[in-house]
Amino acid sequence: MAQIYARITGTGSALPERVVTNADLEKIVETSDEWIRTRTGIQRRHIAAEGQTTGDLATEAAQRALEAAGIKASEIDLIVLGTTTPDIIFPSTACLVQHRLGANGCAAFDVNAACSGFVYALGVADKFIRSGQSKKVLVIGAETLTRMIDWNERETCVLFGDGAGAVVLEASEEPGIYATLLHADGGFKHLLYNPVGVSAGFTDEPNHGVRINMSGREVFKVAVKTLDSLVDETLQAAGMEASQIDWLIPHQANLRIIEATAKRLNMPMEQVVVTVQEHANTSSGSVPLALDHAVRSGMVKRGQNLLLEAFGGGFTWASALLRY
Ligand code: ACO
Repeated sequence: MAQIYARITGTGSALPERVVTNADLEKIVETSDEWIRTRTGIQRRHIAAEGQTTGDLATEAAQRALEAAGIKASEIDLIVLGTTTPDIIFPSTACLVQHRLGANGCAAFDVNAACSGFVYALGVADKFIRSGQSKKVLVIGAETLTRMIDWNERETCVLFGDGAGAVVLEASEEPGIYATLLHADGGFKHLLYNPVGVSAGFTDEPNHGVRINMSGREVFKVAVKTLDSLVDETLQAAGMEASQIDWLIPHQANLRIIEATAKRLNMPMEQVVVTVQEHANTSSGSVPLALDHAVRSGMVKRGQNLLLEAFGGGFTWASALLRY
């Protein structure tokens, strides 16, 4: 029997309308456009409107991906949605999106792997397709991370934004995803976390204590080192050389982390998709936002090899090597 691959047949993305520039943030906290640009590469971020949720952005991105794939929502047999900012505690955002799309009946669940959420979801979906369990899968990464920002804290408020991206994966005899790798190390929880939640309890602090606690410098160091070994491991798993990769589509958190990974792969920045300047770190939204941009702008072409990677809270880290 021929090997079954999961192949991307459509991509989509969504960003909220409201744009907040670095100059806008200069009015809120003691920071500067120059500091933010040189440390992170970020120039602006999109912020969800009041009442606009992760599910709203996810639905919009998914509709665009379905349209690009030329299939109806009712044909989808699985939805996997990466998010760390669900609309409500339950039902899952995947269930809310499923109903809005009109895909009722198929399996639908969320994956929480922080910034690695989309690549984790892609890895899970790939396994469902390879096993023959699913034929057409919607994989979404969506976040409204600014809802957990403390706008008085310059260390974190300049880094994040809201957005979503999605892909349709279909079973195919043509490649397809060659390899996905998923990793986590909960021993690093203290470097990047949100301290509150249902079981640990909410607090009376502003915003119920929901905020991002981050040791930026340490996160940076571990991210660069971990992504270095992740790309080596991914190439090995797929039996490929770095020279066979046409595009690196990395998690969009910090341009300096992206440049370090490109250097490890000996790839010129012309082969790296960079969108962090437009939307800052959208966590699970970032890789599919960059991918959709690369596809729709004509950068990425059919038959090219793409290396996707992400790193985030947990720590979690994940990658996918695929032929588009
Ligand atoms: N504006 C101006 N100054 C600032 C700001 C700001 N917004 N934020 C911090 N500073 C100050 C600090 O207080 C510090 O001042 P000090 O030297 O007087 O103490 C100074 O700038 C330098 O701080 P550093 O920590 O050395 O800056 P660094 O070069 O490490 O950059 C940054 C900080 C951008 C947070 C970086 O460490 C980083 O990107 N880390 C990764 C964090 C990340 O991406 N997290 C997201 C989730 S994980 C992921 O997606 C990879």
